[in-house]
Amino acid sequence: MSWRAEILTLFPGMFPGPLGHSLAGRALETGLWSLGTHDLRDHGLGRHRSVDDVPFGGGAGMVLRPDVLDAGIAAMAAGDLPLVVLTPRGRPLGQPDVARFAAGPGLRVICGRFEGMDQRVLDAHAAEEISIGDYVLSGGEPAALVLLDAVVRLLPGVMGSAESGRDESFADGLLEYPHYTRPAEWCGRAVPEVLLSGNHAAIAAWRRAASEAITAARRPDLWALHCRSVTPTLAGAP
Ligand code: ADE
Repeated sequence: MSWRAEILTLFPGMFPGPLGHSLAGRALETGLWSLGTHDLRDHGLGRHRSVDDVPFGGGAGMVLRPDVLDAGIAAMAAGDLPLVVLTPRGRPLGQPDVARFAAGPGLRVICGRFEGMDQRVLDAHAAEEISIGDYVLSGGEPAALVLLDAVVRLLPGVMGSAESGRDESFADGLLEYPHYTRPAEWCGRAVPEVLLSGNHAAIAAWRRAASEAITAARRPDLWALHCRSVTPTLAGAP
């Protein structure tokens, strides 16, 4: 059985969207993973198939009802797959989470909308609440696409050996070093000399130092974690 994604959404037409192209799209076509979408509206109540209601305690916006969400969850096949909810109030998604999801059999994903979802149904299903960053999207669908893209590319057979063998940002807790290709000089800008040297040890050392410098400059949070776990080669590291 290939890796399975089940999506509960008010906008099933957004899927597979970008996941129908490139690496993920080819992998979907060849059966390396599969995708099922479920329309939450199918479980809406009354003539208007209503899915939400006003928040208890007052305030702006509407909240997705627990009974409607629960019916949608029940309709998702493969009820034993881990259940993930995309919401800006979730735990930030990181590459270790992505690797953990890719190592499992698949995911059930709920895309949030409106002001939020009734907390009781998330608690009842022990759903893992995940955010893709500290900004607010109009719904969880783009976040689900981001999550699935990150997971699918790690599935066995999805990336070619050339791609999967590459050093990647976050794989070792560091951002990736910069890349250069031909021409060796472009608009008066030269490629760092060492990369043309053919000296593999020197190139590896340069790349390592570049990764560390970029991480220290751009992501002090990652750099602090990295320094706690290894002795950095960058002089003057905190
Ligand atoms: N839904 C709205 N904003 C989101 C975010 N930042 N991450 C995940 N889901 C979301």
